[in-house]
Amino acid sequence: MMHERRPLLAANWKQNLLWHDIESYCEDLRAGLPDYFVEDSEPAIDLLICPPLCYLGLVGALLEDSHVYSGSQLVSMEGGGAFTGEVSAQMVADLGCDYTIIGHSERRNLFGETEEQIGRRIQQAFDHDLVPILCVGEDLETRRAGREQSFVLRQLDAQLQYLGDIDAGELVVAYEPIWAIGTGENASAEDAQQMARLIREWVGSKVSSKVSESVQVLYGGSVKAGNIVEYFSQPDVDGALIGGASLSSESMIAMLQACLAQLRI
Ligand code: PGA
Repeated sequence: MMHERRPLLAANWKQNLLWHDIESYCEDLRAGLPDYFVEDSEPAIDLLICPPLCYLGLVGALLEDSHVYSGSQLVSMEGGGAFTGEVSAQMVADLGCDYTIIGHSERRNLFGETEEQIGRRIQQAFDHDLVPILCVGEDLETRRAGREQSFVLRQLDAQLQYLGDIDAGELVVAYEPIWAIGTGENASAEDAQQMARLIREWVGSKVSSKVSESVQVLYGGSVKAGNIVEYFSQPDVDGALIGGASLSSESMIAMLQACLAQLRI
Protein backbone atom coordinates (compact mmCIF):
# COMPACT_ATOMS: atom_id res chain seq x y z
CA MET A 1 0.00 0.00 0.00
CA MET A 2 1.35 3.44 -0.89
CA HIS A 3 1.10 6.27 1.58
CA GLU A 4 0.16 9.67 0.25
CA ARG A 5 2.44 11.41 2.71
CA ARG A 6 5.90 10.47 3.88
CA PRO A 7 5.43 8.15 6.84
CA LEU A 8 7.07 8.97 10.17
CA LEU A 9 7.95 6.75 13.11
CA ALA A 10 8.84 8.84 16.14
CA ALA A 11 10.46 7.46 19.29
CA ASN A 12 9.58 9.29 22.50
CA TRP A 13 12.07 8.04 25.08
CA LYS A 14 10.51 10.18 27.84
CA GLN A 15 12.71 10.25 30.97
CA ASN A 16 14.54 7.01 30.17
CA LEU A 17 17.97 5.70 29.10
CA LEU A 18 21.44 6.81 30.18
CA TRP A 19 24.55 7.69 28.17
CA HIS A 20 25.79 4.12 28.04
CA ASP A 21 22.39 2.72 26.96
CA ILE A 22 22.16 5.37 24.25
CA GLU A 23 25.57 4.47 22.85
CA SER A 24 24.61 0.82 22.44
CA TYR A 25 21.13 1.71 21.16
CA CYS A 26 22.54 3.89 18.37
CA GLU A 27 25.23 1.35 17.55
CA ASP A 28 22.55 -1.34 17.18
CA LEU A 29 20.48 1.00 15.01
CA ARG A 30 23.47 1.56 12.74
CA ALA A 31 23.97 -2.19 12.44
CA GLY A 32 20.28 -3.02 12.05
CA LEU A 33 19.28 -0.20 9.69
CA PRO A 34 22.19 0.30 7.33
CA ASP A 35 20.03 2.08 4.70
CA TYR A 36 19.48 4.96 7.11
CA PHE A 37 23.20 5.62 7.31
CA VAL A 38 24.03 5.77 3.62
CA GLU A 39 24.37 9.29 2.26
CA ASP A 40 22.51 8.94 -1.01
CA SER A 41 19.78 6.53 0.07
CA GLU A 42 16.32 7.89 0.70
CA PRO A 43 14.54 5.67 3.20
CA ALA A 44 10.81 5.33 2.54
CA ILE A 45 9.92 6.06 6.16
CA ASP A 46 11.26 8.92 8.26
CA LEU A 47 12.66 7.88 11.60
CA LEU A 48 12.86 10.27 14.53
CA ILE A 49 14.43 9.87 17.96
CA CYS A 50 13.39 12.18 20.80
CA PRO A 51 15.74 11.62 23.74
CA PRO A 52 15.81 13.61 26.98
CA LEU A 53 17.10 17.14 26.33
CA CYS A 54 20.49 16.50 27.94
CA TYR A 55 21.25 13.74 25.42
CA LEU A 56 20.25 15.53 22.23
CA GLY A 57 23.88 16.34 21.42
CA LEU A 58 24.96 12.77 22.07
CA VAL A 59 22.23 11.29 19.87
CA GLY A 60 23.03 13.83 17.16
CA ALA A 61 26.71 12.82 17.21
CA LEU A 62 26.01 9.09 17.30
CA LEU A 63 23.55 9.29 14.39
CA GLU A 64 25.58 11.75 12.36
CA ASP A 65 25.55 11.31 8.57
CA SER A 66 22.31 9.39 8.77
CA HIS A 67 18.72 9.93 7.75
CA VAL A 68 17.56 9.48 11.33
CA TYR A 69 16.14 12.75 12.65
CA SER A 70 16.37 13.92 16.21
CA GLY A 71 13.92 16.00 18.17
CA SER A 72 13.26 17.27 21.68
CA GLN A 73 10.42 16.35 24.02
CA LEU A 74 10.10 19.95 25.14
CA VAL A 75 11.02 23.50 24.23
CA SER A 76 10.74 26.59 26.35
CA MET A 77 7.88 29.05 25.87
CA GLU A 78 10.45 31.81 26.05
CA GLY A 79 12.93 32.81 23.38
CA GLY A 80 15.86 33.22 25.77
CA GLY A 81 17.07 35.03 28.88
CA ALA A 82 16.70 34.62 32.63
CA PHE A 83 14.62 31.41 32.72
CA THR A 84 16.59 29.01 34.91
CA GLY A 85 16.35 25.39 33.78
CA GLU A 86 14.70 26.11 30.43
CA VAL A 87 15.99 25.12 26.98
CA SER A 88 14.92 27.23 24.03
CA ALA A 89 13.72 26.13 20.61
CA GLN A 90 16.69 27.98 19.17
CA MET A 91 19.08 25.87 21.28
CA VAL A 92 17.33 22.67 20.22
CA ALA A 93 17.60 23.72 16.56
CA ASP A 94 21.23 24.70 17.14
CA LEU A 95 21.91 21.09 18.17
CA GLY A 96 20.73 19.95 14.74
CA CYS A 97 17.22 18.86 15.72
CA ASP A 98 14.31 19.08 13.31
CA TYR A 99 11.30 18.28 15.50
CA THR A 100 9.87 18.89 18.95
CA ILE A 101 7.01 17.17 20.76
CA ILE A 102 4.50 19.67 22.16
CA GLY A 103 1.42 19.21 24.32
CA HIS A 104 2.03 15.59 25.30
CA SER A 105 -0.62 14.48 27.80
CA GLU A 106 2.07 13.87 30.43
CA ARG A 107 3.07 17.54 30.11
CA ARG A 108 -0.56 18.63 30.20
CA ASN A 109 -1.60 16.45 33.13
CA LEU A 110 1.51 16.03 35.28
CA PHE A 111 3.02 19.48 34.75
CA GLY A 112 -0.18 21.49 34.30
CA GLU A 113 0.61 22.78 30.83
CA THR A 114 -2.18 24.98 29.56
CA GLU A 115 -3.34 25.47 25.97
CA GLU A 116 -1.79 28.93 26.07
CA GLN A 117 1.60 27.55 27.11
CA ILE A 118 1.35 24.87 24.43
CA GLY A 119 0.61 27.56 21.85
CA ARG A 120 3.62 29.62 22.90
CA ARG A 121 5.85 26.55 22.52
CA ILE A 122 4.42 25.95 19.04
CA GLN A 123 5.20 29.56 18.19
CA GLN A 124 8.80 29.12 19.38
CA ALA A 125 9.13 25.93 17.33
CA PHE A 126 7.92 27.67 14.16
CA ASP A 127 10.17 30.65 14.81
CA HIS A 128 13.22 28.36 14.83
CA ASP A 129 12.25 25.94 12.07
CA LEU A 130 11.43 23.01 14.29
CA VAL A 131 8.46 20.92 13.21
CA PRO A 132 6.03 20.68 16.14
CA ILE A 133 4.48 17.32 16.88
CA LEU A 134 1.28 18.51 18.53
CA CYS A 135 -0.21 15.82 20.76
CA VAL A 136 -3.95 15.62 21.34
CA GLY A 137 -6.18 12.94 22.82
CA GLU A 138 -8.96 12.29 25.30
CA ASP A 139 -9.04 10.62 28.72
CA LEU A 140 -10.98 7.46 29.50
CA GLU A 141 -13.99 9.22 31.01
CA THR A 142 -14.40 11.33 27.89
CA ARG A 143 -14.11 8.28 25.66
CA ARG A 144 -16.70 6.37 27.74
CA ALA A 145 -19.06 9.29 27.41
CA GLY A 146 -18.57 9.22 23.62
CA ARG A 147 -17.26 12.79 23.61
CA GLU A 148 -13.77 12.08 22.25
CA GLN A 149 -14.26 13.88 18.95
CA SER A 150 -15.49 17.14 20.44
CA PHE A 151 -12.69 16.93 23.05
CA VAL A 152 -9.97 16.63 20.40
CA LEU A 153 -11.57 19.33 18.24
CA ARG A 154 -11.54 21.66 21.25
CA GLN A 155 -7.82 20.98 21.79
CA LEU A 156 -7.17 21.76 18.13
CA ASP A 157 -9.35 24.89 18.16
CA ALA A 158 -7.37 26.18 21.14
CA GLN A 159 -4.23 26.13 18.96
CA LEU A 160 -5.76 27.61 15.83
CA GLN A 161 -4.23 31.05 16.31
CA TYR A 162 -0.76 29.44 16.34
CA LEU A 163 -1.40 27.12 13.42
CA GLY A 164 -3.32 29.53 11.23
CA ASP A 165 -0.55 30.58 8.86
CA ILE A 166 1.82 27.67 8.59
CA ASP A 167 3.14 26.40 5.28
CA ALA A 168 2.53 22.90 4.04
CA GLY A 169 4.65 20.14 5.46
CA GLU A 170 5.47 21.85 8.72
CA LEU A 171 3.09 20.18 11.08
CA VAL A 172 2.67 16.77 12.69
CA VAL A 173 -0.35 15.97 14.88
CA ALA A 174 -0.23 12.90 17.11
CA TYR A 175 -3.52 11.43 18.28
CA GLU A 176 -2.75 9.81 21.60
CA PRO A 177 -5.77 8.72 23.65
CA ILE A 178 -4.57 9.05 27.24
CA TRP A 179 -6.12 5.75 28.30
CA ALA A 180 -3.91 3.95 25.75
CA ILE A 181 -0.58 5.52 26.75
CA GLY A 182 1.71 3.11 28.53
CA THR A 183 -1.24 0.92 29.51
CA GLY A 184 -1.01 -1.85 26.95
CA GLU A 185 -4.61 -1.02 26.06
CA ASN A 186 -4.85 0.12 22.46
CA ALA A 187 -7.29 2.16 20.51
CA SER A 188 -8.57 0.08 17.63
CA ALA A 189 -7.19 0.79 14.18
CA GLU A 190 -10.67 2.07 13.23
CA ASP A 191 -10.66 4.49 16.19
CA ALA A 192 -7.23 5.76 15.13
CA GLN A 193 -8.32 6.15 11.50
CA GLN A 194 -11.53 7.93 12.44
CA MET A 195 -9.69 10.44 14.62
CA ALA A 196 -6.88 10.91 12.09
CA ARG A 197 -9.51 11.69 9.45
CA LEU A 198 -11.22 14.15 11.79
CA ILE A 199 -7.90 15.89 12.49
CA ARG A 200 -7.12 16.12 8.78
CA GLU A 201 -10.58 17.52 8.06
CA TRP A 202 -10.15 20.07 10.83
CA VAL A 203 -6.84 21.18 9.30
CA GLY A 204 -8.55 21.36 5.91
CA SER A 205 -11.37 23.56 7.12
CA LYS A 206 -9.49 25.72 9.64
CA VAL A 207 -5.94 25.97 8.26
CA SER A 208 -5.79 25.18 4.54
CA SER A 209 -6.50 22.36 2.14
CA LYS A 210 -2.82 22.29 1.17
CA VAL A 211 -1.73 21.68 4.76
CA SER A 212 -4.47 19.09 5.27
CA GLU A 213 -2.95 17.04 2.47
CA SER A 214 0.56 17.27 3.87
CA VAL A 215 0.03 17.22 7.65
CA GLN A 216 1.34 13.97 9.05
CA VAL A 217 -1.07 12.44 11.54
CA LEU A 218 0.40 9.86 13.90
CA TYR A 219 -1.25 7.43 16.29
CA GLY A 220 0.31 6.91 19.71
CA GLY A 221 -0.59 4.69 22.65
CA SER A 222 0.88 1.22 23.33
CA VAL A 223 2.18 0.84 19.78
CA LYS A 224 4.56 -2.08 19.39
CA ALA A 225 5.95 -4.39 16.72
CA GLY A 226 2.94 -6.68 16.99
CA ASN A 227 0.32 -4.00 16.26
CA ILE A 228 2.02 -1.14 14.40
CA VAL A 229 0.96 -2.32 10.95
CA GLU A 230 -2.74 -2.23 11.92
CA TYR A 231 -2.40 1.51 12.43
CA PHE A 232 0.10 2.11 9.70
CA SER A 233 -2.19 0.58 7.10
CA GLN A 234 -4.96 3.11 7.79
CA PRO A 235 -5.21 5.73 5.02
CA ASP A 236 -5.05 8.78 7.28
CA VAL A 237 -2.52 7.44 9.80
CA ASP A 238 0.95 8.39 8.61
CA GLY A 239 2.94 6.67 11.32
CA ALA A 240 3.28 6.41 15.08
CA LEU A 241 4.56 8.14 18.19
CA ILE A 242 6.04 5.35 20.27
CA GLY A 243 6.97 5.42 23.94
CA GLY A 244 7.72 2.16 25.76
CA ALA A 245 8.40 0.08 22.65
CA SER A 246 10.91 2.65 21.38
CA LEU A 247 13.25 2.09 24.32
CA SER A 248 14.81 -0.98 22.78
CA SER A 249 16.63 -0.67 19.48
CA GLU A 250 15.55 -4.19 18.64
CA SER A 251 11.88 -3.36 18.91
CA MET A 252 12.38 -0.04 17.08
CA ILE A 253 14.03 -1.91 14.20
CA ALA A 254 11.24 -4.54 14.22
CA MET A 255 8.56 -1.82 14.02
CA LEU A 256 10.30 -0.08 11.18
CA GLN A 257 10.78 -3.30 9.27
CA ALA A 258 7.13 -4.25 9.73
CA CYS A 259 6.09 -0.88 8.23
CA LEU A 260 8.59 -1.14 5.39
CA ALA A 261 7.23 -4.60 4.56
CA GLN A 262 3.71 -3.14 4.51
CA LEU A 263 4.79 -0.44 2.04
CA ARG A 264 6.15 -3.01 -0.38
CA ILE A 265 2.87 -4.96 -0.64
P1 PGA B 1 3.47 4.38 24.85
O1 PGA B 1 3.65 5.97 24.90
O2 PGA B 1 3.89 3.92 23.49
O3 PGA B 1 4.40 3.87 25.94
O4 PGA B 1 2.04 4.08 25.13
C1 PGA B 1 3.30 6.76 23.78
C2 PGA B 1 3.53 8.20 24.10
O5 PGA B 1 3.27 8.63 25.24
O6 PGA B 1 3.99 8.99 23.23
